[in-house]
Amino acid sequence: MLKPLKITKKTPIEEIRGLKTSTKIYIKRDDLTGLLISGNKARKLEYLIADAKNKKCNTILTCGGIKSNHCRTTAAFAQRFGFECHLFLRVRGKPQKIYTGNLLLEKLLGATVHYITPKQYESRDEVMEAYAERLKRKGKRPYIIPVGGSNEIGSLGYLDCMKEMKGFIKKEKIAAVYCAVGSGGTYAGLLLGKKLLNLKIDLNGILVCDTIEYFKKEILGICEKAIDKFNMSIKIGEDDMNLIDGFIGKGYAIPYPAELKTIRRMAKLGIILEPVYTGKTFHGMLKHLRKTRYKKVIFIHTGGIFSIFAFARELTEVID
Ligand SMILES: Cc1ncc(COP(=O)(O)O)c(C=O)c1O
Repeated sequence: MLKPLKITKKTPIEEIRGLKTSTKIYIKRDDLTGLLISGNKARKLEYLIADAKNKKCNTILTCGGIKSNHCRTTAAFAQRFGFECHLFLRVRGKPQKIYTGNLLLEKLLGATVHYITPKQYESRDEVMEAYAERLKRKGKRPYIIPVGGSNEIGSLGYLDCMKEMKGFIKKEKIAAVYCAVGSGGTYAGLLLGKKLLNLKIDLNGILVCDTIEYFKKEILGICEKAIDKFNMSIKIGEDDMNLIDGFIGKGYAIPYPAELKTIRRMAKLGIILEPVYTGKTFHGMLKHLRKTRYKKVIFIHTGGIFSIFAFARELTEVID
């Protein structure tokens, strides 16, 4: 198995108090993973950057939306481990003149940002491969990371997360684990962990974009590649996935009032969620719990705190 860079320390699991739900909710504080509080992306990048180092690459290319947490974390890892970093960011209309949120951090960290249109973003892998060829002609050794760091290598980070939670899940008789599904790697890694460790829990992934059919294919693809590449003696099929739709609202990264109110409610309890991933997921989980008989669950806080600054207007409106 690939050896990861050791950046992330074991993150705590805390009980959320003061929510008045009939289910006890614990929170796995993966918002506190290492290297600039990098959230779930740190776990994936520990493997991806280790792989890039093993392959003697010196330049990282990756892509995402303009507010991407993955791109910001990649910029931080690249800076830390001495890689040149190229980010291909999807932008609608003109790029902003004053940087904010993750984009500001990426620029500060020294990444080179390439703005691409939504149309170009549809063929983002080809765009990055063509650019990698240009870099090779200049003598660089590029390493391409797919959107969200979600492939068979990045997902190993969430297999580790499940290993970290195993003892707690058993001791506390946890019925379900909830996480956001944005590009599928987090869920895929957790599912590999659930199967390998033979854990009897529901693994509930709440969609923040796209469709259940789309993610079933994506996640299965990641899991199958991991099983094959790392000789895991497990089988995974579409029936192993509990994917939950209905909380996306009008679209990816478009917040809605009920979600914003949940973010505000949680902030009053000292937990900061953000509108793109964890806000929609936590909100969706609270609604979903009402239809279940779970006694105890874990919500994985996947981070993303810096993106709240790009939603200052929407969040200001829910502050009473
Ligand atoms: C803060 C945050 N939470 C959750 C996710 C979703 O994780 P995944 O892309 O592995 O599905 C992402 C990225 O997409 C993210 O940035």
